[in-house]
Amino acid sequence: MLTDYSRIVVAYDHSELSKKALKMAINLAKQDKHIELLVLMVIQPARPIVYSYGYTFEAIQDSQREEVNAIRKEIEEELQQLANKARSVVVEGNPGVMIVEYVKQNDADLVVMGSRGLSGLKELFLGSVSHYVAQKAPCPVFIVK
Ligand SMILES: Nc1ncnc2c1ncn2[C@@H]1O[C@H](COP(=O)(O)OP(=O)(O)OP(=O)(O)O)[C@@H](O)[C@H]1O
Ligand SMILES: [Mg+2]
Repeated sequence: MLTDYSRIVVAYDHSELSKKALKMAINLAKQDKHIELLVLMVIQPARPIVYSYGYTFEAIQDSQREEVNAIRKEIEEELQQLANKARSVVVEGNPGVMIVEYVKQNDADLVVMGSRGLSGLKELFLGSVSHYVAQKAPCPVFIVK
C-alpha cells in the first residue's frame, strides 16, 4: 500500500503542524526506501503594507530568503539521514497555487501538510492553503492536525 505513494510532497512553512507533517512523511518514507520525499517551501512575495515601515522590498525579500535558506539547511541535514531519495525545494509565489503546480509537474502521489500554518486564526479547521490544496490537488492529501 505504501508503494502506491512512491513520491510524496511535504508542504512546509515551518509551522508546528508542518513540522509534524514532515515527521510523519519521514516515518512513512522509512518504511520503504523506494519512497521519494520532496519537501516544498513557498516564499510569498512581501505585502506592500510591510514596507511602509521603511524597509525596501528587496531587503525584506533578501531576509526572507536568508531565513528560508537556514531552515532549508536544517531540513536537508535531516533528509540526508534517510536511505530514500529526498530533497528540499524553494519556490516563490502563491503557496496554494505553487504547491498544486509542483505536485502536478512532479507527478507526486501524495501531499502531506498541516491543517493550519503560521497564521493565528484558529477557529477554522483548515487554513486557506490546506483548503486550496485539498480541493485542487490531483492526488490524495494527508492533512495532519
Ligand atoms: N508558504 C508555504 N509553503 C509550503 N507549505 C505551506 C505554506 N503555507 C502553508 N503551507 C502548508 O499548509 C498548511 C496549512 O497552512 P495554511 O497557510 O493553510 O494555514 P494558516 O497559516 O493557519 O492560515 P492562512 O495562511 O490561510 O491565514 C501548513 O501546515 C503547511 O503544511
Ligand atoms: Mg498560512
